[in-house]
Amino acid sequence: MEQAEATDQPTAAVMAPLLTGSLFRPDLYHFFPTLDSTNRQAVQWAQAGAAEGTVVVADHQTAGRGRLGRQWSSPAALNLYCSVLLRPNLPPQSAAQLTLLAGLALARTVADMGVTGIEIKWPNDLLLNGRKLAGILTEARADLERVHYVIVGIGINLNGTDETFPVALRGKAVNLADSLRHGVNRPHFLARMLAELDHGYGRFCQAGFGPLREDWLSFSRLLGQPIRVRMANAQFSGLALALDEAGCLLVQREDGTLTRVIAGDVLLPGED
Ligand code: BTN
Repeated sequence: MEQAEATDQPTAAVMAPLLTGSLFRPDLYHFFPTLDSTNRQAVQWAQAGAAEGTVVVADHQTAGRGRLGRQWSSPAALNLYCSVLLRPNLPPQSAAQLTLLAGLALARTVADMGVTGIEIKWPNDLLLNGRKLAGILTEARADLERVHYVIVGIGINLNGTDETFPVALRGKAVNLADSLRHGVNRPHFLARMLAELDHGYGRFCQAGFGPLREDWLSFSRLLGQPIRVRMANAQFSGLALALDEAGCLLVQREDGTLTRVIAGDVLLPGED
């Protein structure tokens, strides 16, 4: 991958020749120098009927959304902020699997660059040597029977320094360039990540999450670890035992009972 340059903006013109897959086509790709949130924009377009494969990318977000109502720090010219629109034929309880799919695509993109120390923390964090490199925010609309759309929003820290993170994140988040010791070309990184996602999504639509599970597990950070699980109204501690075929986390509680976690925030020892 080449050195990053000041002009490495992933504009539609720059990306068009790099988008060679069948899902994320150049005519569905949209770049904004500044946007409040690529997820917010993608949700709006999804509700208005935009096609599967629509991609929204911003150089800078003024109100980047993180999970659980948090903000996603989104300074200009350094990182990638990207949302993709998918319309899988799925029951609503399976929509969360797309977060795992996106995590796997990201992990593979980074690992293929020769970077070691990449791990996925279920369900949505990509860690590099234990620090947060990227986050995924999946927003879906469904009725009782099927999913109408899923927006997978990905934010990845590429070319910043520790000083470009908000103070609270310093020492906890990491930039890919720190590990590579050179800058990351954003259009090329984005094209590779979208190609991975296109490929993984194709397999997922054919055969579900099951065949991707082993790949996902090879990047897993949690299994065998003592964890705390925080859900909307409850939290509990236990041992992260396994990931089932549906992508749910199986946690053995301290009293020996097994809990299947579909969605939640997982904390490792020392995290709060
Ligand atoms: C997390 O909390 O870890 C998820 C962060 C997801 C951030 C990305 S940046 C692109 C997309 N647009 C948003 O507003 N959020 C997601």
